[in-house]
Amino acid sequence: MGIKSNMNELFHGFSKLNKNERLKRLVEMGALSNSEVKFLSRKKTLDTDLAENLIENVIGYYQIPLGVATFMNIDGKDYSIPMAVEETSIIASLSKTAKWISKSGHIKTEIIGSQNMIGQIQLAKIKNFQNFENIILKNKLDLINTANSNVAASLKKRGGGVKDITIRKISRDDNYDMVILHVLVNTCNAMGANIITQICEFLKPIIEKLTKESVSMCILSNLSDNKLTKATVTIKNIDPKLGNKIQEASLFAALDPYRAATNNKGVLNGIDPVLIATGNDWRAVEAGVHAYASRSGQYKSITSWKIQGEDLVGEIIAPINVGIVGGVTKIHPTAKMGLNMMKIKSADHLSKVIASVGLVQNLGAITALTTVGLVKGHMKLHISNLSLNAGAKAEELPILQKKLEELLNLRKMITLTNAIEILKDLRANKITKQTQTA
Ligand code: MEV
Repeated sequence: MGIKSNMNELFHGFSKLNKNERLKRLVEMGALSNSEVKFLSRKKTLDTDLAENLIENVIGYYQIPLGVATFMNIDGKDYSIPMAVEETSIIASLSKTAKWISKSGHIKTEIIGSQNMIGQIQLAKIKNFQNFENIILKNKLDLINTANSNVAASLKKRGGGVKDITIRKISRDDNYDMVILHVLVNTCNAMGANIITQICEFLKPIIEKLTKESVSMCILSNLSDNKLTKATVTIKNIDPKLGNKIQEASLFAALDPYRAATNNKGVLNGIDPVLIATGNDWRAVEAGVHAYASRSGQYKSITSWKIQGEDLVGEIIAPINVGIVGGVTKIHPTAKMGLNMMKIKSADHLSKVIASVGLVQNLGAITALTTVGLVKGHMKLHISNLSLNAGAKAEELPILQKKLEELLNLRKMITLTNAIEILKDLRANKITKQTQTA
């Protein structure tokens, strides 16, 4: 059974609070400090000085909403999960599902594999593969040691650095072979994109001199399948009917790439917002997840759900390579705050939290899809979204939303066109909240 704790007790009724009350609760939980609350409550956007140091041709910031997912208990510890996301219902669905799990099950995580990231050194056309392979194997230890005492020295000091070099031969359709060296690097708490590429570029002239072959390019691989993050959700004593529906939905995503794409999009609905809220490179994780999902030659789901005895057990295994140092993780104030909110201790720790969020998000989506359907579950926010998209002003929102609710009850569906038409009608008849209550 889930652990009942102070944090989860303080999350009760969280969604009904106003923003200031929510912030107060988060301070009570120890998720936010008073200065972070001040930072979140400021009226101005960030100073563009930071942006100028990050990208080119800066003209401002693009702001997206930052929310908190509640009731996540991972490996016995409660979390308040920061999520930067614009899509309606992601946080509501995750929190609702996390609450269900905290009452009737648990989430467990682990890192599997050798923990190493991959740097690739390509030799596009090798003249003599056998000779090349012999030289690399003979000099492998020296290459590793040279990298570790130069470009990777500070990683090595922290327990990381270059751990191995492996050789892959890829046949081309001309008379040449392509050779790829995989430089396996433990990047400790960094995502490691820059350092891995630097290590490969450092090794390039040494390899060329030793082998008399020509290196074409050096770059990390985002398919970091040597280091996978696994999360497992167990729901004890699942209602067999519901368990069966979820199991069937999982089978659908396992067998059909059209469904797998949408299933994985739903998983990334949870993963991306946490990546963004912690200043991590979501494009890199997306690329890795999709490449890993296609490893068998067919695009597949990265999650699976099965009934085991009386329980429903779900699993996600994916490369979720993140950092808590480097990039913008320590220089963007919101990213720093995101990491503090979850008391993240290491990159692996963050990766485990993110994998869990993805899996729970998936359970929320497929539970809704196989029971009430997606639209019905999140109608309230959907209606406010449609109202805003129709161009309603603040004073027009309540009456427009009420009319849309009435229409929904009548017709079982509503669209943006409905919202636009009702708004036009309200304006033509000059009906707003004030005129209604007057
Ligand atoms: C919508 O953003 C995500 C879902 O389509 C995911 C899924 O179908 O599993 C609901």
